[in-house]
Amino acid sequence: MSIQSSIKSITITQIKKKKNQEKITMITAYDALFAKIFDGEVDMILVGDSLRMSFFGACDTLSADFESMIYHTQAVCNGAKQSLVVCDLPFGALANPQETLAWCIEIYKKTNAQAVKIEGGIEASDIVRFLVKNGISVMAHIGLKPHFVRFEGGYKIQGKDTKSAKELLETAKVMEECGVFSILIEGVKAEVARQITQNVGIPVIGIGSGRDVDGQVLVWSDTFGFFEDFKPKFVRQYLKGAELVRNALKEYVRDIKSGDFPNDDESY
Ligand code: KIV
Repeated sequence: MSIQSSIKSITITQIKKKKNQEKITMITAYDALFAKIFDGEVDMILVGDSLRMSFFGACDTLSADFESMIYHTQAVCNGAKQSLVVCDLPFGALANPQETLAWCIEIYKKTNAQAVKIEGGIEASDIVRFLVKNGISVMAHIGLKPHFVRFEGGYKIQGKDTKSAKELLETAKVMEECGVFSILIEGVKAEVARQITQNVGIPVIGIGSGRDVDGQVLVWSDTFGFFEDFKPKFVRQYLKGAELVRNALKEYVRDIKSGDFPNDDESY
């Protein structure tokens, strides 16, 4: 007999039902500590490969690999029992459908993630369809795709002209037809994101794509002011995390040097 946890995780079906009902909330996490804080407060937690930048200090996300994504997803799932966990597929994950499926199966077997996220457009539709057919829940990441940063020579806002807007709408529709449960749309002109949201029947989660979408996602270290290298225009910072930690650390150092720490109560 299996032991069922009394805590129920949000399901893919529940996320889909939120379309046109209530805004969907999502944030990234890379470890159990923060996942536990975020758990139940947001609908979904994304183990994004942005961890390579904010957690590992790399200049972009391209160095992420499957092993490290599984490792961090395991950690996040240890902390998050209610929010739905989505594992990002790393750069290079879409070269071969059989291999992609094998990795997704590994993610499902080794973690409690309920879905994977794929950065890709129409060119990825065969793989997406193949994964969905094999029981993998997929979130499609369209618009500005950080995996293409070296190819495109930077992070370029999408949907600026009619042709690009049309292509994005077409991509969203193809992804829906492939069976993805939701679309993450990054760095797209607000009006284009609005039109896409109105023209697909699945939730569209935006980042840097305006307010007229079904939900929002941000990278946690941007949101709470721990990543200080740069602040994208679309980020709203809710905390000056790095500054708070630095000030607290200064107090800790001061207390050690002055002999105030540890005091009698903090000693055996
Ligand atoms: O890797 C990530 O954190 C992402 C966000 C930009 C949504 O894909």
